Amino acid sequence: MKSVKKLLLFAIILFGVSFALIGCGADSATDENGNKIYTVATDATYAPMEYMDKDGNIVGLDIEIVKAIAEEMDITVEFKNYGWDPLFAAVDNDEVDFAVSSITITDERKESYGFTDPYFAANQLILVPEDSTVTKFDDLKDKKVAVQINTTGHIVTRGLLGDTSADIVAAETLPFAIGEMINGNADAAIGDNVVIIEYQKNNPNVKLKTVDDPAFEKEFYGLMVKKGNTELLELLNEGIAKLKANGKLKEITGIDVE
Ligand code: ARG
Repeated sequence: MKSVKKLLLFAIILFGVSFALIGCGADSATDENGNKIYTVATDATYAPMEYMDKDGNIVGLDIEIVKAIAEEMDITVEFKNYGWDPLFAAVDNDEVDFAVSSITITDERKESYGFTDPYFAANQLILVPEDSTVTKFDDLKDKKVAVQINTTGHIVTRGLLGDTSADIVAAETLPFAIGEMINGNADAAIGDNVVIIEYQKNNPNVKLKTVDDPAFEKEFYGLMVKKGNTELLELLNEGIAKLKANGKLKEITGIDVE
């Protein structure tokens, strides 16, 4: 009988210890008041949406939006610069709570991740040297195109040139992709319009021009959570809805997203 009691006690302790350990997961950091800190992954190479300022702080419109959501919902957030491809894994592995990174909500991504309601609208834009003869997307059919790997820019370019085309230069970041074009390794770069426009604005001595094509579909950005994390999704959606209702979202981005 005694050993049964011992076993029971052991089981209870084991149970308690495992609970305590679960509570110590990487994603359960707390602030000085004991409130949970939500860690947010981003790829801070995407001015004006998310980028590093001179002091190494992660800043940008996306960052402001998430901070505004955090304020509305009374939560604490902390940003981590993961890079584009790695941020998807970071969400999967619970290394972070969610991601903000100008992530377009696509049907394919929705199979593997949860997305909030849209908070921003964008479309692809072509960037070419000023003397380029390209006037539409189709003109790139027999040309080399630089994109950020595994972005919607990469996806539309695959659609034109073929999935395994050697004429696609897939770089780790959009600025690197644009660099490939400037160095002559590609005839054009394709990426999200606001980021292409910002690049051009910040680099006035590089002679470039943009080419828009109505064939590019409208894209909507969402915050991305691990699939099934409906609790966090609802919290973030509530924050977004509040920012839409009180006009703060438009104040930050300058555009209306229904
Ligand atoms: N909107 C595009 C996509 O979802 C590109 C986003 C890239 N974002 C970034 N921070 N690098 O594929």
